[in-house]
Amino acid sequence: MSDTSAELTDIYIRRYEELLDLDERKKGFFYHNSMKCWIFYRYDDCLHFLNGVNVTKKRMNVPLDLFQIEDRHIVQHFLHIFNESVIFNDKKHSGVASVISSNYRKMDVCNLINSVMGCIGENSIISEKDIGRANNILACFLTGIPSDDELTRHAIKAGMLFDGKISDANHFVSVVKSFIFLYDKFTALNEYATEVNDTSVDLTVAFIAAHQTSMHLIFSVLYDISNMQDGESVTKQMVLESARLHSPVISVGRIFLMHEQYKGQDFNAGEKALFYTGFANYDPETFVNPLTFIPGRKARPLSFGTGLNTCIGMNVSIDFVTSFVNQLTKKYRISKLVINEVSEGSAAIGVDKFNVNLVKR
Ligand code: HEM
Repeated sequence: MSDTSAELTDIYIRRYEELLDLDERKKGFFYHNSMKCWIFYRYDDCLHFLNGVNVTKKRMNVPLDLFQIEDRHIVQHFLHIFNESVIFNDKKHSGVASVISSNYRKMDVCNLINSVMGCIGENSIISEKDIGRANNILACFLTGIPSDDELTRHAIKAGMLFDGKISDANHFVSVVKSFIFLYDKFTALNEYATEVNDTSVDLTVAFIAAHQTSMHLIFSVLYDISNMQDGESVTKQMVLESARLHSPVISVGRIFLMHEQYKGQDFNAGEKALFYTGFANYDPETFVNPLTFIPGRKARPLSFGTGLNTCIGMNVSIDFVTSFVNQLTKKYRISKLVINEVSEGSAAIGVDKFNVNLVKR
């Protein structure tokens, strides 16, 4: 069993309690004055809005005067590309969802996992480097780009755009450069590329999204099943329950399209909202004993989002994580998990550096 068994859950609980403390009226939603947006964290409220038609993703709009003159061109170029991506398309999903599913069907997942496990070596420790490598190979295969470490570094950096981890204007520029680096790679693969090629930008977004999230989910599952009995196998239900307890994505942002009165409160067109889907997963009205690992719950957790923008990699990711953990635990028992670095953003929490000690069965 893990030495640090309380740590990961404690981080989530602390963030959840901070949220509850801010909600003075205890209504499940409140206006955050400094963030200038509505915050929602109850399951039924998240479902009401995210499955409805009155909230949309806000296209990214960053005032150029925040940046040094020499950086403005690249920021403008990035906004032009990024705002064309699948994530801002309210009407339809681009072809990227079917590209990913069909590529996954062609993939020899067993072989990939075996090659990663082949590197565990005599000391029987698996770390973020090993799982990160598996994640990179998965992301490359899904999006049809040849695998290489440089792409991984850029994907991890560009992921900060989605995780709410940008610290200042200079940091934004360096993250944007990573996004453009990846976009240029995908565009170069596509001989019919136009000025903004929507397939390339969607593949770029999918490539980035496939990276840290799946690794974080693998760690969470290993963490939650570390007590598992010999011979027991990991099911998709267990992976989903782990994603509920330790959701790698904790919030999604939206903007109100029209005025709406809901639960006695007026919400106006143009107001921003942050839906803490990761903490809606702790709502005791929906999940009995929310902090206990109970696979096979009736309600669907919101870890992969809900509504039009539900994660397009959900099924692939659940399948991959289930296979990965199953293959690993068939050969090894987990003797210890050590968390070395956790990153926290407004939209994501994840264990970035870890060691999992294994004992051969
Ligand atoms: C193979 C791995 C993955 C791929 C390729 C992928 C890809 C994507 C893409 C392209 C989107 C944007 C969809 C849209 O806005 O229309 C998305 C959304 C999302 N993904 Fe994933 N993802 C992966 C893994 C994960 C994992 C492991 C999690 C967390 C457990 C996750 C959570 C989410 C959430 C919460 C959203 C919705 C964001 C929103 O509503 O604004 N994804 N994903």
